[in-house]
Amino acid sequence: EKGGFRSFMDKEIHDQPHAVADTLLGRTDAHGRLVLDEVRIDESVLRSVDKIIVIACGTAAYAGHVAKYAIEHWCRIPVEVELAHEFRYRDPVVNERTLVVAVSQSGETMDTLMAVRHAREQGAKVLAIVNTNGSTIPRESDAVLYTHAGPEIAVASTKAFLSQITAAYLLGLYLAQLRGNKYADEVTEILDELRAMPDKIQQVLDRADRVREIARWMADTQSVLFLGRHVGFPVAMEGALKLKELAYIHAEGFAAGELKHGPIALIEPGLPVFVVVPSPRGRDSLHSKVVSNIQEIRARGARTIVIAEEGDEAVRPYADEVFYVPQSPTLLAPLLAVVPLQVFACELATAKGLDVDQPRNLAKSVTVE
Ligand code: BG6
Repeated sequence: EKGGFRSFMDKEIHDQPHAVADTLLGRTDAHGRLVLDEVRIDESVLRSVDKIIVIACGTAAYAGHVAKYAIEHWCRIPVEVELAHEFRYRDPVVNERTLVVAVSQSGETMDTLMAVRHAREQGAKVLAIVNTNGSTIPRESDAVLYTHAGPEIAVASTKAFLSQITAAYLLGLYLAQLRGNKYADEVTEILDELRAMPDKIQQVLDRADRVREIARWMADTQSVLFLGRHVGFPVAMEGALKLKELAYIHAEGFAAGELKHGPIALIEPGLPVFVVVPSPRGRDSLHSKVVSNIQEIRARGARTIVIAEEGDEAVRPYADEVFYVPQSPTLLAPLLAVVPLQVFACELATAKGLDVDQPRNLAKSVTVE
């Protein structure tokens, strides 16, 4: 069942090119336009949406945080991302023009389900992005966009995360197309870029030996920090979550810009810090700001482990280790940058002799609030 892999987690990490490709499959017509038949919410309703709220828990919520950057950019619709249990127990401003997007691998997470019910009671339309066919959340939503990651067995989520980002991007592009804004004409191009991602994810996996080597060396590590900016911020959060879940190591993710507002006090000699660096070909200030963050923490003795885009030589002087990922548009880069972080957590936990598929205290689907 594990297809020759040591664990389901290892297998699922390696399934990711397929998970993304399958989530993209069959969603365009002969003219390259997106057709999301499953999204049975009236087009006029979708055109009038003036706010999107993504509700989810755990890794699914980080997928929402990544998607926020893309959807706001393409659609100019404000996107909020909220943990389902927080959304449910405050008094959220929601009405008929709000599209609530519930993201869940299992489709059974009780916190998310309760938030879905709450949103619908307030008159919002709810679209579910879910991996498990016939599960409860899609049944109770107005529409569903399935991720086609295939069954995810390991408790900590990996391939579902990549397909959730992919599906949420499809939704963003669909809304842009429907609303005919300035990105409507670029939908085909962006879809082509998305279709190129599975091969690039495969390349990251093919070159992950060094990540595994470093992970094994670091089996005794007590604490690890993860920094990122823009879409790299939720990637850093997800990298930290994977390490907590799988290896029981204290890990924290930060927005790189927050460094000087607090976390820099934690930096001490030898502390491993992962930094997710945006493409130097994107908005230049973004890249150079993150490079100066690496410089700052390196100057304080941190051990810097950098995820950067191929060809980015600027990071080298300040990096103890660099893991290069193929070039891609900034918004799509999370599909690549998170992979070395997953491999790292999985390998480190395995080196510690832990059960990576069934980490202590965790459940695959949490069906109580
Ligand atoms: C947690 C799982 O309890 O629930 C995580 O251990 C997962 O891996 C989270 O991200 C949300 O689950 P789901 O099924 O709603 O995506």
